[in-house]
Amino acid sequence: MNPAQPTPFLVVVLTLFPQAFPGPLGCSLLGKALEKGLWKLHVVDIREFSSLKHQKVDAPTFGGGRGLVMRPCVLHEALSFALAYVKKITPAAPRFVFPSPRGTRLSQYQCALVAQEKRPLIILCGRYEGIDERIFHLWPLEEVCIGDFVLMGGEIAAMALVESCARLIEGVVGNNEFSHDESFGPKGLLEYPHYTRPRVWNGELVPAVLVSGNHQKINEWKHHQSMALTKKRRPDLWAAYQKHHGDQNKRLKDC
Ligand code: ADE
Repeated sequence: MNPAQPTPFLVVVLTLFPQAFPGPLGCSLLGKALEKGLWKLHVVDIREFSSLKHQKVDAPTFGGGRGLVMRPCVLHEALSFALAYVKKITPAAPRFVFPSPRGTRLSQYQCALVAQEKRPLIILCGRYEGIDERIFHLWPLEEVCIGDFVLMGGEIAAMALVESCARLIEGVVGNNEFSHDESFGPKGLLEYPHYTRPRVWNGELVPAVLVSGNHQKINEWKHHQSMALTKKRRPDLWAAYQKHHGDQNKRLKDC
């Protein structure tokens, strides 16, 4: 590797659907960053670690109940392989992640931490009813939930996790593309609305302040818009914001 090149952010995904990757992770700026080696993706087919006929990876759940559960022996072999792979590339200790609706909710703060630490991520994608609980007793898997809804498996959640972390790796997104006002950023507010050409479209004018050239007024407008949106759509974030900044309700009059 070029000595001037920063250490890449290494991601290993264990999945029953390797063909799903890189998928959207290979597009646009993230795809370019992948080509440039700013981050690396290694996809492992879990099925290859099954010693059973037809490479079966699941079995019925004990105690009755719906569906099938992924067998611990297969997952253990796949995780051992992933760990050995990572160790060959870097001395940095990897984080093991299992996307799951019962995990702790993923936050922008955690994504920023992952991007800053650049520890490798080993992401185990589950399918069916889930994975045998005993795997959690052997491997330090962090269960991560991307929202209060249930997906068919961990792949889409893994992609969301990787995209939200990799976009924060230095050099992946140019400074021009990066907004410090974006939602869930340090301000704790949702991002304000955006407008572009033409100035009049569908009978609607771009807000006059945005074409006034008065940067102080523009910043005030953006801040008020952010506050109004957050108050309306995310009372949880708004309450936290108010706690830190005092009651700014009065300032919302002008929004
Ligand atoms: N797997 C299924 N649903 C999920 C969710 N909401 N978050 C993370 N992983 C999942």
